[in-house]
Amino acid sequence: MNIWFDPVESLTEVIKETASSLEGFSDKFIPDVRPTDPRFGDFQANGIFSEAKRIGVNPRILAEKFVAELEKSGRIDRDLLSISIAGPGFINFKFSNEFLGNWIATYRSTDVLRKVCKKIYNGKKVVIDYPSPNTAKQMHVGHLRILVIGEAISRLLEFCGADLTRDNHIGDWGTNFGILIFEIKRTNYVFPDDDVKALSELEELYKSGTSYVKDEENHAGAMEQARMELVKLQQGDRDNVCLWEKIVKVSNAACARIYDIFGVHPDVTLGESFYRDKVGRVYDELSECGIAEESDGALVVWNDEDFRYSRNNKNAAPFIIRKKDGGSNYASTDLATLLYRVEHFNADEVVYVTDDRQQDHFRMLSLTAKRWFAEKKYRFPEIKHVTFGKILGSNGKPIKTKEGGSIKLKSLVDEAVSRAFSIVKEKNSDLPEREQRKISEVIGISAIRYADLLQNRTIDYVFSWDRLLSFEGNTAPYLLYAVTRIKSIYRKAGLEISNVVANDVVIIPSTVSEAVLIRHLMKFSNVIKIAIEELKPHYVCTYLFELAVTFSSFYTADKIIVEDSRVRDLRLRLCACTLDVLETGLNLLGIDTLERM
Ligand code: ARG
Repeated sequence: MNIWFDPVESLTEVIKETASSLEGFSDKFIPDVRPTDPRFGDFQANGIFSEAKRIGVNPRILAEKFVAELEKSGRIDRDLLSISIAGPGFINFKFSNEFLGNWIATYRSTDVLRKVCKKIYNGKKVVIDYPSPNTAKQMHVGHLRILVIGEAISRLLEFCGADLTRDNHIGDWGTNFGILIFEIKRTNYVFPDDDVKALSELEELYKSGTSYVKDEENHAGAMEQARMELVKLQQGDRDNVCLWEKIVKVSNAACARIYDIFGVHPDVTLGESFYRDKVGRVYDELSECGIAEESDGALVVWNDEDFRYSRNNKNAAPFIIRKKDGGSNYASTDLATLLYRVEHFNADEVVYVTDDRQQDHFRMLSLTAKRWFAEKKYRFPEIKHVTFGKILGSNGKPIKTKEGGSIKLKSLVDEAVSRAFSIVKEKNSDLPEREQRKISEVIGISAIRYADLLQNRTIDYVFSWDRLLSFEGNTAPYLLYAVTRIKSIYRKAGLEISNVVANDVVIIPSTVSEAVLIRHLMKFSNVIKIAIEELKPHYVCTYLFELAVTFSSFYTADKIIVEDSRVRDLRLRLCACTLDVLETGLNLLGIDTLERM
């Protein structure tokens, strides 16, 4: 029996092979193998039960027959693996200590894991759409989730072999430019050199401009003037195009600073304006195929195959793809964008990251595009909408500043770093201040990032400074500390980690905590698979936290640097593997680790 690097995959293979040599099993039979309650074993295979139902035999008897065949087949080595049947036909597998010793000796580093995981996407072309903020606005706390979830999912996709393009679909072509240009001209606004300052001033200008034009009593005709500025921009008026370009440039530069903080680096930034000349094709083709129809002067699409968006549902609204005034909108732009991603990037899959309020939009987009692409025989990519819930304050309502405004992302980051600095200064008073500041930056930013990723993204969560910066519990500081602790074991012993891993002599674990730790390390590949399947990074967080806790119990129970060289080697190897998995996992989440803290 080979020592399986990825037990889930290997067990699945062995079970499938065994099933194919048994009469009655369907060719399509795929056992569902997953980690199980340690009281029963390491992994459990489900699927015999439904197969028995399909064939019409007693599941328990089928399971017994199956296990007998598996044992006879020689595909497994009973010294390494014990098998038992539970309930109505679940099959449990439990690895022996000998297996665990072999496994950890073969496990060199996560590079092997990388190779296994690469097969999941296997070079498939994926375009991920994030952070895609709107221009002329500072990024606020609502963008935190897009940045960190988008980045973690991107890294997971790349780890799993996707050929990824990060496409930043900025909202740079809205009706807001009419008011903004109007107000810039009215106030003779001069752009300052500092882009961050300019962006915050633009935001104010938009506010003052909006109240100015809305005040019909005192400023009659101002609304119309603002509208005309927009029309002029759309018609290519030089001054207005110049101003628009300046606004977009300033916004992009200011946002880029925030992206940098979160390690987000878009490959392309093709905003809504890029699709201005591509929406015509959308109107033409959708009308020609009879998918879009005129309604009250607008062009709309009903998607009758889904009652929520069907004309038969009197509460439903159609997907409006061209406004009454003939202008394009979010929907037409997104349809053009999707086609561009298929034609230009050859996308097999497109992943959108936005909050959950845009669910209807993306469902209608997907339904409409599916019909359109089918008519025109364009390849239809898989569409995934990664949504997330809100960040709440301690009062259970969406988090706001004391004054009730939206919290700017930059000020959130600054606060995180300064709070981290107070903690680091106290804990590491012996370090020079420069180093304390560097450490605080990593801790502060990872803390807000991790606290966000830790939640199942679809639900709202309550933001709490105390919790996210705590060195205890499931937090970034706790995990970062676990990493530095392992590094210090090596430093103190004067050893190089790479030497320990390179040695592949098999050493059988002899203590419970060694075995428990190896068992946990073994489950990492499965966690990645589940996370990528659901595009949910929180599975990785939960796993890493459990790993750090398991490591901590091992470290408390078993002294590492002992006389017996075999025992010491195994334990050092366990430290190295844990470190490698922790660092790989944290990196997938976008978190840089530290040497000391
Ligand atoms: N700019 C939009 C917003 O801030 C998000 C864009 C998401 N991507 C897309 N292709 N629609 O709400």
